[in-house]
This record gives sequence, structure tokens and C-alpha cells, in this order.
Amino acid sequence: MECQLTIALTEQKKEKPASDKLGFGVHFTDHMFVMDYTEGKGWHDPQIVPYSPLTIDPAAMVFHYGQAVFEGLKAYRNKAGEVRLFRPDQNFKRLNRSLARLDMPAVDEAFMIEALKKLVSVEKEWIPTEEGTSLYIRPFVIATEPCFGVRASHTYKLLILLSPVGAYYAAGMKPVKIYVENSYVRAVRGGTGNAKVAGNYAGSLKAQTEAHEKGYEQVLWLDAIETKYIEEVGSMNVFFKVNGEVWTPVLNGSILEGITRDSTIQLLKSWGIPVVEKRIAMEDLFQAYNDGVLEEAFGTGTAAVISPVGEMSWNGHKMVINQSQTGEMTQKLYDTMTGIQYGVLEDKLGWSVKV
Ligand code: COI
Repeated sequence: MECQLTIALTEQKKEKPASDKLGFGVHFTDHMFVMDYTEGKGWHDPQIVPYSPLTIDPAAMVFHYGQAVFEGLKAYRNKAGEVRLFRPDQNFKRLNRSLARLDMPAVDEAFMIEALKKLVSVEKEWIPTEEGTSLYIRPFVIATEPCFGVRASHTYKLLILLSPVGAYYAAGMKPVKIYVENSYVRAVRGGTGNAKVAGNYAGSLKAQTEAHEKGYEQVLWLDAIETKYIEEVGSMNVFFKVNGEVWTPVLNGSILEGITRDSTIQLLKSWGIPVVEKRIAMEDLFQAYNDGVLEEAFGTGTAAVISPVGEMSWNGHKMVINQSQTGEMTQKLYDTMTGIQYGVLEDKLGWSVKV
């Protein structure tokens, strides 16, 4: 990228929330990153500016045809004051894959990492240091051209917002209850399921609300063709420890390619635990449960980190996993992953990037 990042700092600093009252994604820092795209000109005018509302034409295509993609990553600050990002290169690679899927223009990944580091250092004082807290980073791109024609927009805006967060689930590291969804589906091969597009989440909300009403935190999606094979949970990928080995759904084009998912697989393999990526029929998982060999279940995601699953409901069957307690391997994964993220454990795989 030939253009320079400009920085305009605000004098009007907001009050920072107490670290035990963060919640998830409800507080926003003093500044944000903004960059525009115009066809024929490319991405231009990257800026760090005071956080403020946007002025967008109501005919902007994002409001009508949903050309919107996003990413999620975190910055971690340890007690020594060091700030780290976790595998940010993977987020910008995936952002480009999502952009390509919605016929939107690619960004320069190396430039974006540098711009993000700058934004995070400007907002360093916003990064909480208490255990389980971090600064959630939300890059996103929207179509801004005012036009009702159904085609790709000729102009876009990319923003990065920062939000100090606690645990994604209100209950913290407590095992979550998930509802296996049999009627609604999330994504189908050839669709947008493996891209991080806003519409995937919009389409999931109705099922999630209904699951909440039944007392479950999240929905577990099955494949859209046979509603038989496990895909992913609303905000995370899923893993099951069965008889000493770990199963996770194989990436099939409709499952989100989670960076925490990939990191989890690499960590487990480095510990000598067999990981099997395969199509997992819900029926087979239920059989494993009845045979007493479903030992642990957990989800992985940037927001969710490693979240134990304590209960599943499928077709009227209730499955209580590991007596609704966090399993030993799940806990070890959480401790190792967060230890690397905060820079308190050795980063043998070179995932942690200092800001
Ligand atoms: C994340 O884990 O970063 C996600 O994007 C999941 C959810 C908060 C949308």
C-alpha cells in the first residue's frame, strides 16, 4: 500500500469500565481505524480517528443486499505490561477469503497487521489485565455505494473497532448447555458457511432465541442436507473427547475455519493426543455417550476461547457430559492457549505477536 496511515487523536477520553463489569462487546475505546475503497483507486485514506458514528447513505448496498464481512481477534496484556496479538496473520488471510466470497476487494494483509498494531498501541491503556479479560478486535468491511442494482458495490469501508471484554458467556468458564438444532440450518456447501459474513449470523438468530427459551445457551448446527452430521456451534467450533481420542467435524466448505480450532488441533497433536477430523453423525456421538465413552466436549473460538460443554439436547435426549464439569483436557487446553496468548507460557509454535 503506497498511502500513509494518518492519526488524529482525541482529547476527550471516555471513562474505562471496571474489569469485573466488562461483559462482551458493549464498551468501545476512544479511537477506531477507517479506510475507504473506490473502484479504480483501490484502498485509500487509512486513518486512526476518534470513535464516532458513521454517516452513510441509506441506499448503501450493505443495508439492502448484505455485503458485509467481519473478523474477530484479541489483544492480550500481561501483568508485565506486554501486549500481544494471537496469530493476526490468520485473521487477515481469512478476511480476504471472506471478502472474495462476497465479491469484495482484498486488503493488503501486511499493511493491515501494521495498522492494527498501531491502533492497539494507541489504545494500550484500554487493554484489561485481569485473568480472562482482553481487548476484542473487530475488523469489518461494508459496501457503501448507494445503489439498488443487485451487483457488487464499487465502494467499501473497512473499520476496526476495539472493545475491552470479559468472558463471552455470562457464566464465565462454566460448562454451557447446547441444543442440537433439527429444523433450521445454518449453511450448505457452496454457500457462505465457511466465510465470516454477517448474514450467516443473522440467519442463526431465530434458532438461538428459541434455544434460549428452552434453557440452552447455544445451538449446535447439523449439516443442511441430511441434518445428520455435526457442523459447529453458533459462536464456536466443537470438539469431543471419545475414548481417549478427540473428534472434530472435518472442514467441508460450510463450517467456519476457526483459528482457535486450528490452534487446538495443533496443541493436542503436540501432546500426542490423536485428533480425528471427520464427519461426525449425531447418532454416533449419542451412541458413544450411551456407551459411556464420551468423556469431554468443548467449543473453541476467539470470543469463547475454550468453552466446556456440559449438556446437549438432541431429539428429546438429554446428554450430560462429564457430570457437567470442565474436563481435565479441556482445562489444560484453556490454560495452555491463554498462557501463550498472554505471553506467560513458552510460545513454541510462534503464534504470539508482540505489539
Ligand atoms: C469470535 O469468536 O470472534 C466470533 O466472531 C464469534 C462471535 C462473537 C461472532
